[in-house]
Amino acid sequence: MASTPLPVLRQRSFGETARRDRWWLQPLLVFLGFGTFLVYANWAAFQGAHYTYGPYLSPFYSPELFGNSPHAWFGPQPAWWPSWLPFSPALIILWAPAGFRLTCYYYRGAYYKAFWADPPNCAVGEPRKHYIGESNWPLRIQNIHRYFLYFAILFLFMLAYDAASAFWFKDANGKGNFGIGVGSLVLTANVILLSGYTLGCHSLRHLVGGRRDCISTSPLCHKAYKGCSALNKRHMLWAWVSLVGVMFTDVYVRLCSMGVWTDVRIL
Ligand code: FES
Repeated sequence: MASTPLPVLRQRSFGETARRDRWWLQPLLVFLGFGTFLVYANWAAFQGAHYTYGPYLSPFYSPELFGNSPHAWFGPQPAWWPSWLPFSPALIILWAPAGFRLTCYYYRGAYYKAFWADPPNCAVGEPRKHYIGESNWPLRIQNIHRYFLYFAILFLFMLAYDAASAFWFKDANGKGNFGIGVGSLVLTANVILLSGYTLGCHSLRHLVGGRRDCISTSPLCHKAYKGCSALNKRHMLWAWVSLVGVMFTDVYVRLCSMGVWTDVRIL
């Protein structure tokens, strides 16, 4: 029997598509949302001021390895800091959470479309003629995501410590007392949202799931795999709410520190 010849696929020109929906809306929203975050995060990281208020520490500056606040682990600005670069504690540590987010499987798909139009959306013509993909350089570097994951988990513990410390207010004599401020709840919500995002990571799911191409037979690993999978189903949602959460937490601490907002004490 003669086989039917396969149709010859023609490469679409840039933006050409048979789609009739508003395919441009999603990349536009990603461009605006992620772009706003990138601009704000860079601005906030270079400020080097107004990142603490009482027991609160902005997540952009945590852990504060060196700095002038009482949260600093190893004291003030180190002598080795280059004189041409304005000192900010955030610049020492932000590479880790930034690297984790920028190499996230979800964000990659989103910002390739929104920022590089590669392609602008599924089944829409792209500006390039040849597909390079992530199995070649330079995008092969995205495989580093699994290593950033270890740092992200470490950061979760440190942010959880910051959230717990946010319930501990010093009185006039320097004695710590338990209390609850709106900021305590903001820092707690931030670490919950970041946990929902990090623990649903594709790489973590693979890591706890077992061996290559085979789900672990260990009941503990299987439970962990199912937990990761449940969060992973909504990974995009967790990615966005945690992004907004971390930005809002910095805004909250910053505006309280500047005296623009008042931190209401609930207890
Ligand atoms: Fe998104 Fe790992 S895949 S955080």
